[in-house]
Amino acid sequence: MDYQHIIVERSEPVLAVTLNRPDKLNAMNQDLIAELQEVIAGLRTDTAIRYVTFTGAGRAFSAGADMSGRGGPAPADRYEMANRARLVQFTGHDFMRALENLEQITIAAVNGYSLGAGLCIPIVCDFRIASERALFGVPETGIGIFYTWGATPRLTGLVGPAWAKEMIITNEVYDANKALSCGLVHKVVPHDQLMAAASELIGKIDSKGRLATRMAKKIINAASAPNFGDLYICEPEMVERLHLSDEPAEGARAFDERRKPEFKGR
Ligand code: COA
Repeated sequence: MDYQHIIVERSEPVLAVTLNRPDKLNAMNQDLIAELQEVIAGLRTDTAIRYVTFTGAGRAFSAGADMSGRGGPAPADRYEMANRARLVQFTGHDFMRALENLEQITIAAVNGYSLGAGLCIPIVCDFRIASERALFGVPETGIGIFYTWGATPRLTGLVGPAWAKEMIITNEVYDANKALSCGLVHKVVPHDQLMAAASELIGKIDSKGRLATRMAKKIINAASAPNFGDLYICEPEMVERLHLSDEPAEGARAFDERRKPEFKGR
């Protein structure tokens, strides 16, 4: 099938997905997300595919949510805007849950920048392999928003609260080796060996019992997702509250104008 913003290559039992907006560092706009959702929905019943790889075209895996055009004048109805921001969370939550709960083994082959929403795919994949050029970060608080889509507890689960706080609260960008040392990625490889490393991992898993592997994944996912029921209730409400403040709009304007935002805490 042809997509506009992703490339999907099928070679059973592997489906290779490449985020493909290299001129925008594979920033995730609504269309790209919709295309990914369509692929993920198809995978639910596609038993000929047992492995899915994700990577990015060009120098980024993904530089996060597409910020273009977000810095325009504030809409007249702030309550309506905040409500829309709340509703967008449902898309993000569904996306994360659907990808995380695929029965296939999923592997993120991180080739470059993996920032914010662009780190969301890797953190819900089963395995993360980094090129030496990979850079990981969560820039959200720097632009007046927080790390939503259920990504904050998942990242905290992967690296623990100390590293999660450094990444999320200070926006520190980790290179591949720091990501390896804090447990964010499983392996760092030379850039030109990234996809070969993903194939090697698939080869290793492919000799194991298929049903046992599927069940192991489900049990590990169930064991590592406590309290997500609360999260799905609270996070949209927190996003709505945040968007009733001036900070997200100031962050978006500053991003557009390539200047430092001025946050006032209200
Ligand atoms: N949304 C929309 N466009 C983006 C983008 C994003 N999140 N990230 C990068 N781009 C675009 C840039 O606007 C630029 O487009 P242009 O050439 O049409 O102006 C292009 O991708 C290249 O980015 P540029 O900033 O010129 O590259 P760089 O090497 O100087 O910097 C980054 C790379 C990743 C540090 C920088 O692009 C960045 O900070 N991106 C935003 C990260 C972010 O805050 N993401 C949102 C988190 S949810």
